[in-house]
Amino acid sequence: MAKKFYITTPIYYVNARPHIGHAYTTIACDAIARRQRLLGSDTYFLTGTDEHGQKIERAVQASGKTPQEFADDISGQFRALWDRMGLTYDDFIRTTSERHKKGVQALFKKIRDNGYIYKGTYTGQYCVYDELYVDAVGEGAPCPECGRPTETVHEENYFFKLSAFQEKLIALYNDQPDFIRPETRRNEVMSFVRGGLRDLSISRSTFSWGIPVPDDPKHVIYVWLDALANYITALGYGSSDSGKLEKYWPADVQMIGKEIVRFHCVYWPAFLMAAGLPLPKAIVAHGWLLFEENKMSKSRGNIVRAETILEVLGADALRYFLLREIVFGQDGSFSFDAVVQRYNADLANGLGNLASRTLTMITRYFKGEVPYPSHTAAHTAADDAIAEVAQKTIAESGALFDQYQFSKALELAWGLVAAVDKYIVENEPWALGEKQDEGSRARLATILYTSAEALRIVTALVHPVIPESTARIWTQLGLGDLRKFPLSDLKWGQLPLGTKLGAIEAVFPRADKSAVERMQKMEDQGRTTAVEEAKVAGPSAPSDLTAAAAPLAKAVAAVPDGKISIDDFAKVELRVGQVKVAERVKGADKLLRLEVDLGSEVRQVVAGIAEAYDPETLVGRKVVIVVNLAPRKLRGLESNGMIVAASPEGGKPVLASFLEDVPVGTRLK
Ligand code: MSP
Repeated sequence: MAKKFYITTPIYYVNARPHIGHAYTTIACDAIARRQRLLGSDTYFLTGTDEHGQKIERAVQASGKTPQEFADDISGQFRALWDRMGLTYDDFIRTTSERHKKGVQALFKKIRDNGYIYKGTYTGQYCVYDELYVDAVGEGAPCPECGRPTETVHEENYFFKLSAFQEKLIALYNDQPDFIRPETRRNEVMSFVRGGLRDLSISRSTFSWGIPVPDDPKHVIYVWLDALANYITALGYGSSDSGKLEKYWPADVQMIGKEIVRFHCVYWPAFLMAAGLPLPKAIVAHGWLLFEENKMSKSRGNIVRAETILEVLGADALRYFLLREIVFGQDGSFSFDAVVQRYNADLANGLGNLASRTLTMITRYFKGEVPYPSHTAAHTAADDAIAEVAQKTIAESGALFDQYQFSKALELAWGLVAAVDKYIVENEPWALGEKQDEGSRARLATILYTSAEALRIVTALVHPVIPESTARIWTQLGLGDLRKFPLSDLKWGQLPLGTKLGAIEAVFPRADKSAVERMQKMEDQGRTTAVEEAKVAGPSAPSDLTAAAAPLAKAVAAVPDGKISIDDFAKVELRVGQVKVAERVKGADKLLRLEVDLGSEVRQVVAGIAEAYDPETLVGRKVVIVVNLAPRKLRGLESNGMIVAASPEGGKPVLASFLEDVPVGTRLK
């Protein structure tokens, strides 16, 4: 019977549209799932969206939609993007689906019946951004994880006896050293757990966007218990059909980003132990995708959408770049230049060129049929050397891939491409092609067979990473459907002699210089479209960044007496924000880059106030932000909102502020 293999991605929050940071995790899992299928495993690949909690509830507030409509929209965007990219997930779980809600309630009951849930009172700080209870003191105290202001929660809650699992968790990490990967994350978790575990509040009663606690619907279940349960509710936990649960649980790999290690490596196994369920075999954490040296995220306003790269270079280019360029487990930088460079060097000039020159010569010299290699006179040590490199690559590249070292695995595979290229150049098949004597024909046949066989091997090996283009090369080799190829049998010498090649076409057309520019342009336009899609009204940002009056003036102009209705005014969303970070923008005397906390999110705003304010004096200060302006780029930085200031003629701007204290996020109206 086939070995089963269950792999999961985190489920994505629906407070923002998908970007390539989300795509990165999903692509890595897709590549692993594809390899497992080729190796013959009965594979199940799960992804989905995380739709409850205070963070989502707040994101919805400005949208004019119901939380469910909002969640439907963004969840649909994630799914549509995954489909467009050809990601081979077997199930897409949504936490607002009935099957999930039932499963979560069943899990809550089970843990309660097993004696690990009790009622108590919680007073402390809560970080809405991380959806995390934190050790901090006082309203607004910074979250130790992300630095954003926390909120004081005073509630009667249900508590989970996390403290009862400290020793069991330590034993788990010791007994299963591979439970958390990589090692650095394992060490972090060990020291966190050794530091002592306090019981965890697992319900909330001050908002309602969540799954009701069974028998006590005033409370909703804590969003992380709700979300983590997806890995089993998708398999039917809590339903009458538990076939998939029995078959696939425990998961073989649960892939996550490094920022959610604690939830997956501490809370999740503790919840499972409390429910008497088996534990996943491995939690694998990757690093962050950075753009201009910062984590790509909505709040920083530095996201890149996957669609841009798909449109210009195709899904395989993005997949290859992410897995080849970034050392898995570490942070890695993204730039359009780097993607195009990789694409041209490794795909167009590397694999693409090897495929087209080999297949074209077979067509020209052997009427498009794989020639018979010579085992006697026309055979040389150079041919054997290629066969050896290929065999070695099969063994080593596969092993590296299975250790999540995608970048090294691909480097090795491209080592084979380079070896064959060199072999072709040194053996000059084109010169032999001009000759008709038997010896030359036999040598030519051997060289082209060797090249085609090496091409076949590298194509099969890297199929999980670049599935679409390798499937096309495979068809050009006359080999049919690559998805059905049993990868575990791959070895040198399997290319059937006399195979008729398919129609030959370029798989990776070279990207010209304009590719980078086109992608950058699409990103800038995409940002505007995204805002329109979200139906956030508001005229575009004026050139004077300090004047809030300018966009209003534009709206006013349409009305004859210069007055506007209250509805017009209501279109401009003004909110109280608190400056968390302020710094000068290199090369721009007037500009400051600010990160402003708006309660539900942190925005990057670039403001022309550097001549009036020292950045240090702004940190902690409450300001007024126009929240629903279309984002725009200044000096390569996205400004997502505008700070309101009075702009005296010929004088320096003066920031609008308040005499009384006012909570962050409050709307001005
Ligand atoms: N909803 C929670 C996860 C619940 S799982 C039971 C969550 N969602 S998220 O949308 O904020 O992030 C999900 C995952 O997206 C992260 O773990 C990470 O894998 C990925 N990434 C989001 N931004 C990323 C980067 N900039 N870089 C790399 N991965 C990123 O956390």
